Amino acid sequence: MNYVVGVDLGTSAVKVLLVSKTGQVVDEVSKDYPLYHDKPGYSEQDPEDWVKQTKCALKELTDRMDDPSLIEGLSLSGQMHGLVLLDENDQPLRRAILWNDTRTTAECREIEQNVGLERLYELTKNPALEGFTLPKLLWVKKHEPEIFKKAKVFLLPKDYVRYALAGDISMDFSDAAGTLLLNVAEKTWSEEMCEKNGIPRSLCPTLVGSDQQTGTILADVANETGLSTSCKVFAGGADNACGAIGAGILEDGLTLSSTGTSGVVLSYEATGDKDFQGQVHYFNHGDPSAFYTMGVTLAAGYSLSWFKDTFAKDISFEELITEAKASTVGAKGLLFSPYIVGERTPYPDSAIRASFIGMQANHTRGDFARAVIEGITFSLNESVEIFRRKGKHISKVVAIGGGAKSDLWLQMQADIFNADVVTLANEQGPGMGAAIIAAVGSGWYPTLADCAKDFVAYTKTYHPIQENVEKYQRIFELYQQIYPSTKQLNHDLAAFR
Ligand code: XUL
Repeated sequence: MNYVVGVDLGTSAVKVLLVSKTGQVVDEVSKDYPLYHDKPGYSEQDPEDWVKQTKCALKELTDRMDDPSLIEGLSLSGQMHGLVLLDENDQPLRRAILWNDTRTTAECREIEQNVGLERLYELTKNPALEGFTLPKLLWVKKHEPEIFKKAKVFLLPKDYVRYALAGDISMDFSDAAGTLLLNVAEKTWSEEMCEKNGIPRSLCPTLVGSDQQTGTILADVANETGLSTSCKVFAGGADNACGAIGAGILEDGLTLSSTGTSGVVLSYEATGDKDFQGQVHYFNHGDPSAFYTMGVTLAAGYSLSWFKDTFAKDISFEELITEAKASTVGAKGLLFSPYIVGERTPYPDSAIRASFIGMQANHTRGDFARAVIEGITFSLNESVEIFRRKGKHISKVVAIGGGAKSDLWLQMQADIFNADVVTLANEQGPGMGAAIIAAVGSGWYPTLADCAKDFVAYTKTYHPIQENVEKYQRIFELYQQIYPSTKQLNHDLAAFR
């Protein structure tokens, strides 16, 4: 039996999956690495930590196999947007600045000035957000000019790890889409974005498709990891694209709701010519002819874990969910907006903060927990509603992440999204998407969709309960008033944080 490996380079850890020709995950290894927050808003990682831990995980995986040379192909999924700057010897010039680093608000406004909002949306299909890569390039240019001068090329996190494993310098379209330098519809680096923002075009690496082979495992890496030098390495994709592939979101009509630390609602798009005016992200998919649109709730699972850590430390998550279950639809008139670290969709606002609205003396901890879960789901529903307003038909949502592990939350998603919500039989996250890319690259299947049909299975379906749908629609209208009503208050409070 032959195998492929999917590498999922996350923000807190790297996870490698060994997947058989029948789509079974036969083994997995995870290794973590540190995050550096040297100043408020800063979030960095050392690219060498990613490489060291990825090799370490691969070694552990191959050590447990009888014959590691049966691993035919490997591909990678990566945390998006992180800036890795390389010098003329292809060595990192500084730590990587990550997707959740928020130091670049001034640079985002400069990009809007330099390009003009309308033109920015035309070229990149996306808004200028702190997390994206171009604002980070401008920040380094302004604050660390000596480093910027030495830069030969920039890469994204998984591309640097792929370079360390296979020696090529390139970037796939799905990840390049999150740089704000790609003309997303045309799939080329935008000369105009480079020029208007003062970024040399030569800093942009060669673009490749996700399932394109970019090399084989280097000899010294083979020695260190136990992989064979004949193991092919394929470009891979952004974690959200790979998460979508691993959940089978590869045809029109399919939508993904993912509740990890952050929350994502992602919908397949067959074309790149729609205009969402930057309200949602519009990125190239792993299948290079396709696209996806995506809304992001910055603190989804994070809002619930914050609530638990702060107010329910002594009980388990299961107990907290049981308390929430005992409350009612609408948490007895209690609303929560999940803006504890600011928000992205539909309000790109790093200064907004969360609120509980409507607290009264008889509210219990369970009502609060339920309000938090409902608030997170309302926030995800803002993205669902944007898609629907643009004419998208959303009737089936595949749920993954923490929100897919509780019956209460799954039924709540069905009721609030007013759509069927389905779960995966064996959820593996973006690593499975990377493995599917490697399987297609290795020639096991002609397309990602063909492979996903065999590798991805759905289990339970949650249908919307009409009575709850109607109640939630009324409550959602109230929820939508929280942002405009609390915006100024929170911006003024920022001075005291
Ligand atoms: C997407 C985004 C995050 C990161 C997390 O725009 O910033 O989902 O990709 O890894």
